[in-house]
Amino acid sequence: MYPTGTLRIHELTSEERAVYATLKPECLPQHVAIIMDGNGRWAGHRSLKRFLGHQQGAKCVQLVTETASRIGLPWLTLYAFSLENNLRRPRAEVNFLMRLLRSYLESNLQRMMDNNVRIRYIGRIRELPPEVQDKMQWAAEATARNTGTTLTLALNYGGRSELVDAFRGLAAEMQRKHLSPDRLTEEDIHRHLYTAHMPDPDLLIRTSGEMRLSNYLLWQIAYTEIFVTERLWPDFRGIHLLEAIADFQRRERRYGGLGEGSGEVDEETERVKIGAS
Ligand code: FPP
Repeated sequence: MYPTGTLRIHELTSEERAVYATLKPECLPQHVAIIMDGNGRWAGHRSLKRFLGHQQGAKCVQLVTETASRIGLPWLTLYAFSLENNLRRPRAEVNFLMRLLRSYLESNLQRMMDNNVRIRYIGRIRELPPEVQDKMQWAAEATARNTGTTLTLALNYGGRSELVDAFRGLAAEMQRKHLSPDRLTEEDIHRHLYTAHMPDPDLLIRTSGEMRLSNYLLWQIAYTEIFVTERLWPDFRGIHLLEAIADFQRRERRYGGLGEGSGEVDEETERVKIGAS
């Protein structure tokens, strides 16, 4: 097994290495989150059944995770199944996705071990079928001591329901400890999120061109850079992750402050005139 932070650049493909060579290693994101979209369209464009798009999508999950682990990305969080998918998709598709998840975990566990990847989950996991939960727990336990990339699968996940769950936990804690609401801080809310143990994403990638957040990590992405690609998820590979990171590195993150080239601060602007003179 590789110790934490071991780079395995030599394991990248030559095309990936060429993109990696353009990156600033000291400015790599710590956490990349991805909305994997377009499996159905990918299948439709090939006159295939939707489930084949999901099957190809699962292969991409593994390929992208392995590239992430080779460049030493600490956190990769993938939107694999939303609460809305669970409620609104035909039962046959939901059942297929559940079977696919089980078989994905089973058949890729050894590769996760070889790549030092730790698997975790966020979402309302306890509402998933018991046999799926068992397989998830098995994979999480088997990989728990790995120290490379943490692959978090968001399953039966919704950003708003995460906030509801966090507020429920927080309200119970406040009652128990007799805390006053006036003392509440952002940090208190953060502690009760599913993601309390990880940093907020630096970069959010969405495939298939839709300009939506789809109820993903709503609290956590307050200052996240967003990268949308037209590429459909089953066509997304490690090299595209690296290209998204290259684009991210060209951005200037300001967190609400001023950046380079914002112009000089003029004392006169402090005397604001309202209304026409
Ligand atoms: C969107 O495609 C994708 C999903 C429903 C979730 C992502 C699922 C996978 C990548 C496959 C399984 C993952 C694992 C971890 C085993 P869509 O059906 O919404 O595509 P469309 O918008 O083109 O119809």
